[in-house]
Amino acid sequence: MILVTGGAGFIGANFVIDWLAATGEPVVNLDKLTYAGNLETLACLDGDARHLFVRGDIGDAALVDRLLAEHRPRAVLNFAAESHVDRSIHGPSDFIQTNVLGTFNLLESVRGHWARLPDAERAAFRFLHVSTDEVYGSLAPGDPAFTETHRYEPNSPYSASKAASDHLVRAWHHTYGLPVLTTNCSNNYGPFHFPEKLIPLMIVNALAGKPLPVYGDGMQVRDWLYVKDHCSAIRRVLEAGRLGETYNVGGWNEKPNIEIVRTVCALLDELRPRADGASYAQQVTYVKDRPGHDRRYAIDARKLERELGWTPAETFDTGIRKTVQWYLDNPGWIERVQSGAYRDWVNRQYGAA
Ligand code: NAD
Ligand code: DAU
Repeated sequence: MILVTGGAGFIGANFVIDWLAATGEPVVNLDKLTYAGNLETLACLDGDARHLFVRGDIGDAALVDRLLAEHRPRAVLNFAAESHVDRSIHGPSDFIQTNVLGTFNLLESVRGHWARLPDAERAAFRFLHVSTDEVYGSLAPGDPAFTETHRYEPNSPYSASKAASDHLVRAWHHTYGLPVLTTNCSNNYGPFHFPEKLIPLMIVNALAGKPLPVYGDGMQVRDWLYVKDHCSAIRRVLEAGRLGETYNVGGWNEKPNIEIVRTVCALLDELRPRADGASYAQQVTYVKDRPGHDRRYAIDARKLERELGWTPAETFDTGIRKTVQWYLDNPGWIERVQSGAYRDWVNRQYGAA
């Protein structure tokens, strides 16, 4: 079996669902259930004996040690993190706590577990760290896309905390020989994305008749990848990645934010037209820019393609259509996230955090 951390969040939950469908191999899912963790996202796994959910913190060494000893996973995949840049600007402390200290604690527990394994299990063991392209900083318009050797230049508290965690993972390999793999992925989108991030926020605000807040001039560029393609890349890196290596993950889909917002509006115009016949694009409102806003990210994913034969299955056109349709088909999920009702079950089950 494998141990996944952060598997009730956007990418982690998509990963767990896809993993079980693709491999059938059992998963222990350790998640603290912060505001970003949503067990309703995992409802399709209710009663599935291959999925064991444990509420807890990656920084809780006693808990992590116990889970490792009890379940003897062949791999640990670390998705757990504070992930929202705007939140990191307003309150960086949680980001340092989870992304830096949490990853450190996890590495230490995993190192102890790995060192005690019999030879064959020790040789097969993997620690895969899920990271971001934001650690590389910002590109100017004509710059080549980020390769794995691009200098680390994080600009936000979030990206600095992820950069720190990447460095810890690297050091645990070089110093202790821990068999690590790191993936640095571009912006994900798809089902179960928390509506604080650009694409789901635009969809839910548009449908609610609210303004669509575009930061600054809306010409910041992000490189978008459908979440299930990120999941398949992680499976492939886990399966065949070279130890100690990092792999950039991306789909060659650079787009300015305003183009993303207009695309979402056009799809909604087609699939759920406004009652007054006007375009949702009328709701676009330019607002004050994010402090320290990175201008452009772009991922060069050729190493992953060349060495491991991975390519994304979705184009941006197919992925964004599926995503908009998913939000239209799942108003209950959105409603319970927005009202906070998704926390009720957690509070009943575990007590308020
Ligand atoms: P998310 O915020 O949706 O989910 C994070 C999950 O981690 C939540 O379920 C939360 O409860 C859990 N968590 C937080 N602190 C924890 C702790 N101390 N112990 C255990 N669990 C904890 O984030 P996401 O968008 O799914 O991102 C997952 C990972 O992928 C993160 O490491 C992020 O840096 C990375 N990443 C995200 C993107 C993206 O576009 N969303 C792109 C590249 C990389
Ligand atoms: O690049 C990978 C990263 O992508 C991940 O590591 C992060 O966890 C993830 O949150 C994401 O970071 P971004 O800051 O790029 O994502 P966000 O959805 O917050 O913003 C995308 C772009 O849209 C960014 O340029 C800011 C802009 N934006 C965002 C919001 C929420 C707006 O213009 N308006 C908004 O309301």
